Amino acid sequence: MARADLLSWIPEGHPDEMLVGQVNFDRLPEHIAIIMDGNGRWAAQRHLPRVEGHRAGIDAVRDTVETAARLGIKVLTLYAFSIENWKRPATEISTLMMLLKRYLRSELKTLLTNNIRFLVIGRMDDLADDIQDELRAAMVRTANDSGMLFNIALNYGGRAEIVDAARRAIEAGIRPEDLDEQRFASFLYTAGQPDPDLLIRTSGEMRVSNYLLWQIAYTEIYVTETLWPDFRRRHLLEAVVAYQKRERRYGGITIDPRLRSSQAR
Ligand code: IPE
Ligand code: IPE
Ligand code: MG
Repeated sequence: MARADLLSWIPEGHPDEMLVGQVNFDRLPEHIAIIMDGNGRWAAQRHLPRVEGHRAGIDAVRDTVETAARLGIKVLTLYAFSIENWKRPATEISTLMMLLKRYLRSELKTLLTNNIRFLVIGRMDDLADDIQDELRAAMVRTANDSGMLFNIALNYGGRAEIVDAARRAIEAGIRPEDLDEQRFASFLYTAGQPDPDLLIRTSGEMRVSNYLLWQIAYTEIYVTETLWPDFRRRHLLEAVVAYQKRERRYGGITIDPRLRSSQAR
C-alpha cells in the first residue's frame, strides 16, 4: 500500500506526515512530468559556478524518484537535457553528462530495489558513446521491473519527437486515412504510456520549453518558485495536493449534481 510505504520512510513526527494525510490516494496522478529548472540560479545565489547547481540537483532527483515510487505514481518523466541545451558552454555540457553517468552508476541499485524501470526518451543516438552505453545498461538491467516507469528526457525536444514520430509512421507505411491521434501517439517516444496528468516546473518560469508538446494537451501545470536543487519530497507532495484540488474538464462542462436536471436540458 502506497500510503504505508511512504509513511514508513518518513521519520515519526516529521511535518511531511501531515502532508501525506492530505493526499487522496484514490486520485493520484498516474503520470507526473517535471521540468527541473533553476540549477544555475541556485548556484549563482551562492556565488558558485553553474555546474555546482547541477551537482546539487542530483539530490533532488534522488528524493523525487523515491518519493514518486513510494507514493505509487505509475510514470515519472524528468527533463534532464533539451536539444536546445547544446547551446550552452561545452564545459557545462560535459559536466552534465559526467553527472548523469555518475548518477546512473550510483543509483542503479536503488532503481532495482524499488522495482523502477528506466527509459530514455529523446535522440539518444546523438549522445557520446560512453553515455549511450551507460544508459542502455540501465535500461536493460531494469527492463523487467514492474513498478514505476522512470523516463528521463535526454537530448529531448517536443517538436523533434513529433517529427521523429511522423518519420516513423511514414517508414511504417501508414496510409494517411489510417492515421488518427491514437495511432500517431504510438510512434512517439512515450508509446503506450498515459499522458502526464501533472506537469511541475521549478524556479518559477511560466513556459513549457519544448517539453512533451503532444502529451501535455490537457495536463495540469504547477509552477513553484523552489529552485530544483532545493526540491524535495515535501514539494512533490504539495504539488500532488494542489493537483487534487483542480477540476479537469477536458473541454467539457461540470454539472453540479443538484442542478443536473435543469442544466442537461
Ligand atoms: C536546469 O537548470 C538544468 C538543465 C537545463 C540541464 P538550469 O541550468 O537551466 O538553471 P537556470 O535556469 O539557469 O537557473
Ligand atoms: C528546460 O530548461 C530544459 C531542462 C530542464 C532540461 P531550460 O532552462 O533549458 O529552459 P529555458 O531556456 O529557460 O526555456
Ligand atoms: Mg533554466
